[in-house]
Amino acid sequence: DQKTAMLFREFLKDKYQMNLTVNKLSSKKSVNTILFSSKGSENIPDEGYKLNITPSGVHLTGKEAGMFYGFQSLIQLFPIEKSANMYIPCAEINDEPRFKYRGMHLDVTLHFFPVSFVKKFINMMAEYKLNTFHWHLTEDQGWRIEIKKYPELTKSGAWRAQTLIGSAQKDDPIGYDNTPHGGFYSQDEIRDVIKYASERHITIIPEIELPGHCISALVAYPHLACGDNPGPFKTIESWGIYEDVFCAGKESTFEFLENVLTEVMELFPSKYIHIGGDEVPKTRWKSCKHCQKRIKDNNLKDEYELQSYFVQRIEKFINSRGRAIIGWDEILEGGLAPNATVMSWRGEKGGIAAAQQNHDVIMAPNNYIYFDHYQAKPEQEPIGFPGYNPLERVYSYDPVPQSLTAEQKKHILGAEACVWTEYMATPAKVEYMILPRLLAFSEITWTPLDRKNYQNFQEERLPVHLAKLDKTDVIYFVPTAIGADDEKTHHIKNNKDVTITLKSPVKGAKIFYTFNHHSPRETDYLYEKPIVVNVPDGQKRVLKTIVITPSGKRSNVTKTIFLNASPQALNRK
Ligand code: ACM
Ligand code: ZN
Repeated sequence: DQKTAMLFREFLKDKYQMNLTVNKLSSKKSVNTILFSSKGSENIPDEGYKLNITPSGVHLTGKEAGMFYGFQSLIQLFPIEKSANMYIPCAEINDEPRFKYRGMHLDVTLHFFPVSFVKKFINMMAEYKLNTFHWHLTEDQGWRIEIKKYPELTKSGAWRAQTLIGSAQKDDPIGYDNTPHGGFYSQDEIRDVIKYASERHITIIPEIELPGHCISALVAYPHLACGDNPGPFKTIESWGIYEDVFCAGKESTFEFLENVLTEVMELFPSKYIHIGGDEVPKTRWKSCKHCQKRIKDNNLKDEYELQSYFVQRIEKFINSRGRAIIGWDEILEGGLAPNATVMSWRGEKGGIAAAQQNHDVIMAPNNYIYFDHYQAKPEQEPIGFPGYNPLERVYSYDPVPQSLTAEQKKHILGAEACVWTEYMATPAKVEYMILPRLLAFSEITWTPLDRKNYQNFQEERLPVHLAKLDKTDVIYFVPTAIGADDEKTHHIKNNKDVTITLKSPVKGAKIFYTFNHHSPRETDYLYEKPIVVNVPDGQKRVLKTIVITPSGKRSNVTKTIFLNASPQALNRK
């Protein structure tokens, strides 16, 4: 397989300044070679591979996608540092993914990201064997995809006059930045990104939000809103749920959406088109005579059934072009469209209900795998969406709910981690929020349950991957020292010393610590061997630790209290 061989050569040159020659396999039985060959892959699943590493050579077999994933595994076995004699371990690996849908979502609407970063994001996904990129392209806050038939969408809808500063979830907003924000992708750029992704065995699923979260489209074409003479509208500058939505009564709405979706399907070859469907207030529909007439004419019970009518009509159109829809779990309300796949984001409830109705499901529960939520204590972290999904919680997630029957479980296609960017204004922030959680997510979707092991992941494998990452320009969240017991109080018994053993979460990173209540830094004690904490009777000690990586990145500071007395006794002193 010439393509993989070339990739491998590039990898060695780029990371280790090694030059290898690539040859077509000679008929001779070859030793001391690295062989990439699809021969013998007939019985290997499409995304599976066999990797054999012996003292006399490396042999990787698989079909096209499997070969790509085997290549990723092979390069993961390479050492962190370049040296004169580099070793990789001998291995015999027969590997294939647990799920066929291994997705990452990226919202480019709440903040816009350039093509260069979208590609970097896709590349990170590929390194961890994810295969589906869900590109969230339209929102109240910005329309990001060029539609030739409707140029006004990107002329006015791609821009907002300013952006909220600080948190929309707190009741004390700081204000607005008085700075225009926006941008969009031309169809040429989109084709280029699709090609880039497909070279990495990643399918892109575009999302065009309907019938809500569409104010940027209403800015451009106000007649698509409810009522007789709606608008003007303004591209939204804050975060939340807004009442202006597409009118479900006017035929012109469907004509517009079908034209938009036609161009979208011409661009994107994916089987699935994501049509949104989440968070649709019914306020406008309730007072719109066109929507009310639609309800009456179609014998619909209420506005929830009107939403279902809307989604079903769009589904019929998309199905007629040989494609299928995915919608957020709100599309269950008022009745599921017959062929829809449900993306369960408000926990697992929607996914469970959909599977019970024999619909396919992608699990994306916000309380496990939304990466806009905090990964550590909010007071030590950059601003994020309220919610707490630290690494171990992400790792622990199993997309298959135990309450489903064996038959229903087959409808769980896989899982997707979501990256909503209201609090990510820069590419660096996106990287910080997804790493290392992306690595934990990769194991959710790839690794069989009985092979998952958090301790091994956290203590053995992750430190090596983070050490490699530390040598690149990628930003990542540095976990705290393993064993540091943040926020824990040790109650000392019988005046016995306590021994604290720490491990670095990034291979090659240093751990510094203090007992003087100040935050540690390079000037403090370097952790070299287990710390013996001696606390005289009636006293307490506070251990603080920090991790500093070779590139200078720092973890949060942990704090552990050692108490040699009852807290009451200490208070008296
Ligand atoms: C969503 O997070 N509103 C799907
Ligand atoms: Zn209406």
